[in-house]
Amino acid sequence: MKTDVLLGLQWGDEGKGKVVDVITPKYDIVARFQGGPNAGHSLQFDNVEIVLHTVPSGIFHKEIINVIGNGLVIDPAIMRTELEEIASRGVNVINQLLISKKAHLIVPTHRIVDAAMEASKGKAKIGSTLKGIGPAYTDKTGRNGLRVGEILAPDFKIKYETLKKKHVELLKQFDFEYTIDETDFFKGVETLKQYTFIDSEYVINNALKNGKKVLAEGAQGTLLDIDFGTYPYVTSSSTVCAGVCIGLGVSPHSVGEVYGIFKAYCTRVGSGPFPTELENETGEKLRKIGHEFGATTGRPRRTGWLDLVALKYSIMINGVTQLIMTKADVMDTFDTVKVAIAYKTETGVTDEFPSELNSTTEPVYKDFKGWNTSVSGIREYGKLPKELKDYIEFIEHETGVPVKIISVGPNRNETIIRQ
Ligand code: GDP
Ligand code: IMO
Ligand code: MG
Repeated sequence: MKTDVLLGLQWGDEGKGKVVDVITPKYDIVARFQGGPNAGHSLQFDNVEIVLHTVPSGIFHKEIINVIGNGLVIDPAIMRTELEEIASRGVNVINQLLISKKAHLIVPTHRIVDAAMEASKGKAKIGSTLKGIGPAYTDKTGRNGLRVGEILAPDFKIKYETLKKKHVELLKQFDFEYTIDETDFFKGVETLKQYTFIDSEYVINNALKNGKKVLAEGAQGTLLDIDFGTYPYVTSSSTVCAGVCIGLGVSPHSVGEVYGIFKAYCTRVGSGPFPTELENETGEKLRKIGHEFGATTGRPRRTGWLDLVALKYSIMINGVTQLIMTKADVMDTFDTVKVAIAYKTETGVTDEFPSELNSTTEPVYKDFKGWNTSVSGIREYGKLPKELKDYIEFIEHETGVPVKIISVGPNRNETIIRQ
């Protein structure tokens, strides 16, 4: 069997959580492969509304195993709150969740270092979620990090203190006041000890060998990838399809369908280039109707038109086989909808995503007539208004990839699956 992948093609918040929850019944295992609590994946069904940060979005389906892969960084304090919230909804989360021993820990001083570094950058700040992601991955690649499996070792506290000391030394370089509060961290560590730690590479490969189906759930988006995103305004992990192999220990041969998810427009939270950004009333309208405020930090998201230059780039990097479009319903009352089809740069017009985007990059737009009708109640592709179908079919034509799922609202059932 294969590992199918669902990942974001823009700057995150494309609706990954919602759609993973929708398609989970087709799978036996849902696994996160990178990122950490910088992610905020919103799920809505029956009377439940929840935002998941570290736990995969398949957790609300009984019998489905959810795996936190080796590629993640975990904050035990945040995890504890999240696990309690999930359990309070009647989920037997202890039985359904398996955690890789090799995932790395975010310790309280990682968050302080994150904040100190951001503060020192002034206007050039990344706009990090301040969850300690960058410093935790830095310690991983610098070979100083602590792995989840180590919390069971008798010398865990000694290793923890050594790492903390390194961070305290580092923090002396910054003019940054802080206090270290470790209470919630150690409470979280005790909670984690109740869970099953695994070698996720064996669990997943054995499952595939035994005919089980695995879905890998991405966090963030391709344009926030450490290599292919708008560096340095990116996150610190490989958010792209290749990250699945690294973050779960599966071979490229085992990757099956690659579902690329995008919003019918664009958003970005945090700093960095955004060619189709609308800093005007139209942008405000998208933010208001789309409730574009961060699921993790509550920050207003920047909004803009769909960017096909960026979308095609993301499709290429990830080898996307099926597209999923969300939030077209947000544009139900727009007379005109625009899509960027190329960029005008200092050296001419291009349809390639430049490695260095700057303020002189100007999108070239194609206009579409708005559909001016509510689509949230529609469940069949054929019943969508012609203008929206034209919009979707243009995207399919330009990208060469079919749009197989169309999400028309935040709820699990507000979904059109094309046969
Ligand atoms: P994720 O990080 O990719 O899982 O996305 P987020 O949960 O951070 O952000 C997506 C937001 O849009 C959430 O508030 C979802 O409830 C909501 N959402 C998802 N799909 C749709 C949709 O098709 N229409 C509307 N109106 N909202 C949606
Ligand atoms: P989901 O999984 C949107 C952004 C931050 C910042 C940059 C670096 O919900 O799509 P970090 O905390 O990783 O050091 O922040 O990346 N960012 C996200 N933006 N959705 C996310 O996750 C994000 N995770 C990080 O805003 O610009
Ligand atoms: Mg999100």
